[in-house]
Amino acid sequence: MSVKTIGVLTSGGDAPGMNAAVRAVVRMGIYNGFKVLGIHKGYEGLLHGDIEEMKIRSVGDIIQRGGTILQTARSQEFTTEAGLQKALSMSKIFGIDALIVIGGDGSYRGARDFSHLGMNVIGIPGTIDNDIGCTEYTIGYDTAMNTVLDAIDKIRDTSYSHERCSVLEVMGRHAGWIALNCGIAGGAEAIVLPEKEFDIDKDIIFPIIEGRNRGKKHYLVIVAEGVGGAVEIAKCIEEKTDIITRATILGHIQRGGSPTLRDRVMGSRMGAYAVELLMAGKRNRIVGLQNGALVDIDIEEALSMKKSIDEELVNLSKILAL
Ligand code: F6P
Repeated sequence: MSVKTIGVLTSGGDAPGMNAAVRAVVRMGIYNGFKVLGIHKGYEGLLHGDIEEMKIRSVGDIIQRGGTILQTARSQEFTTEAGLQKALSMSKIFGIDALIVIGGDGSYRGARDFSHLGMNVIGIPGTIDNDIGCTEYTIGYDTAMNTVLDAIDKIRDTSYSHERCSVLEVMGRHAGWIALNCGIAGGAEAIVLPEKEFDIDKDIIFPIIEGRNRGKKHYLVIVAEGVGGAVEIAKCIEEKTDIITRATILGHIQRGGSPTLRDRVMGSRMGAYAVELLMAGKRNRIVGLQNGALVDIDIEEALSMKKSIDEELVNLSKILAL
């Protein structure tokens, strides 16, 4: 059956650049003769028929906006067989032949289960965490890292002025990509990642004391949310080194803000590519970036792919922290 009507939704945690992807799906879709329906609040909106037809102007003035104009949700009901059946029946009512899901792994698992009922699903990677196995890049990652970097630079000013240590906790429930890159870009003494075991004396206290002996005037430790405990780590540093240490948990500020150029372009390219996949008659694919080029991967295979932390970058961060 050829696709005539595309549904598009954003799911899971929002990410800057999702609007660029929605805009691209809508405009590329309409340009190529599809009817495009915007589904509000992720799978929840699909279950409840919170759906509207998108026109060219529905996505005007959104490319520069953070968050997602479609809004997003994490749906419990959609994880159940009854929920999936209800979503299928709602899709039939609205005539949806294919569903484009902008989100992360959790959203793809829902999409994969939905595909087992016959829906054609296409995934676009949207999460600030960059933790999706099948792609080098996820929409929102660049903006989030720049937000973190801006915070690091500000914290560094006050840290230097007082000769203090700062412990900064950044997002990444299971992945340390934001922490690692921002730690390098911000000149951190130590970076604590969920992917790596760490020993507080060896990996944090010792580099700080060594740095002090070499004449450092301030210290920065980046902790990924997946490890957590920034306040406790700060306390321990202060106790063991006598350096006044403050903890900052950056939180959801990292998810908002106007998307960077990279996220706007990536969102635009990935959104358009998703529509092209449907035009080529493809089914159940995830859009990804591999070796700098857009690719598409079967959804089952994509879900089985794991991304491991870049060991070279981890080693480099340690050398450059000297
Ligand atoms: O979007 C991914 C992420 O930012 C994680 O790093 C974080 O743990 C999580 O979302 C928090 O999401 P929420 O507060 O929406 O549950």
